[in-house]
Amino acid sequence: MSKLSIRDLSLEDQRVFLRVDFNVPLSEDGSIITDDTRIRETLPTIEYALRHRARLILASHLGRPKGKPNPKMSLRPIVDRLRPMIDKCLGQEVNVGFSPDCVGETAEELAQQLESGQVLLLENLRFHAEEEANDPVFAQKLAKLCDLYVNDAFGSAHRAHASTEGITHHVAQSAAGLLMEKELTYMGKALTEPDRPFIAIIGGAKVSDKIGVIQNLINKVDAILIGGGMAYTFLKAKGQDVGKSLLEADKLDVARHAMETAAAKGVRFLLPVDHILADKFAANAKTQAFSGEGAFPADWMALDIGPKTIELFAREIAEAQTIVWNGPMGVFEMPAFARGTMQVARAVAANEDATSIVGGGDSVAAAHQSGVAEKITHISTGGGASLEFLEGKKLPGVEALTEKK
Ligand code: 3PG
Repeated sequence: MSKLSIRDLSLEDQRVFLRVDFNVPLSEDGSIITDDTRIRETLPTIEYALRHRARLILASHLGRPKGKPNPKMSLRPIVDRLRPMIDKCLGQEVNVGFSPDCVGETAEELAQQLESGQVLLLENLRFHAEEEANDPVFAQKLAKLCDLYVNDAFGSAHRAHASTEGITHHVAQSAAGLLMEKELTYMGKALTEPDRPFIAIIGGAKVSDKIGVIQNLINKVDAILIGGGMAYTFLKAKGQDVGKSLLEADKLDVARHAMETAAAKGVRFLLPVDHILADKFAANAKTQAFSGEGAFPADWMALDIGPKTIELFAREIAEAQTIVWNGPMGVFEMPAFARGTMQVARAVAANEDATSIVGGGDSVAAAHQSGVAEKITHISTGGGASLEFLEGKKLPGVEALTEKK
């Protein structure tokens, strides 16, 4: 990586502003963290900073409070979850404080009083509208809290906000944290020097959400496997009548063009060859299997890939050396339509020779639901960020970091 890493910094006695992505799912009232993966994934960076005697200031957004304080999106409940995790990593009790605002006098005093090896978590950055507006005065106020800046929030790296971009203009050195480095290393290697065969499995509801990824990956992969609701726009573009399946009529040309480009480049573009059809979009819908290139029965919609497609995709997955997976194969939240996604997850996990990378909230959830998540080489903490990275876009939160000399 051409950017500075936290490993390049002298941390001792320095106030280090560590931007993390603690945008974790919470219970309805905001009091219980229902999935702490993103917190756990930042622990190596937190541990590294504390072992090197930094005075550590943690900052994150949580939810979309629209620039105003909202108790349901407070970061306060995170302190109680974080403290025992940090204590366990360090093997001793660590002082973890909380600042009720991320800028201003109280935050400045608390940051000033921090001693080496202590932690201060700031309240939700997005309680100030200036955060998302990347307001320079607000960015300066954040910078006033610290001597050094480290960004470990890969999940927010596609946002040019005050805490991910603006602040870097007001500190001497801005470096990547260990999680940020890990994400960029795995995904960067897949895009630039993959072991081959390199395949991409792309699913999800809409062509419009994933077309950027498909267009970028067509230039890099050996095969693209398409599943999920978006497959039906591709099948329709090839002339198949897909009944009531999800269809983006205004994306037929885009879909056709992607398939033509793939063919011209010798990239295999695999669409589902059979389907699980439902008579309505509901968990208790009547279902039937449908195979072949003929018209789907009218009034029925495809909600999952069928067994022949699972077999076809599993064969491709077993042969691959690099696998990037983004988006589910069907409506896996409903048990009747979960099989395709679960089997694809198992096939990816079963290929232990390959580097497998899963990104995007739904496919990450599916990997966990299938019980094989620990066999996947890298599960990204970024939803939108991993998508934009796979689209080949530059991430402002990464671009803003200091270049290595
Ligand atoms: C995410 O969950 O993808 C990141 O935390 C970014 O959140 P945002 O989409 O609200 O900017």
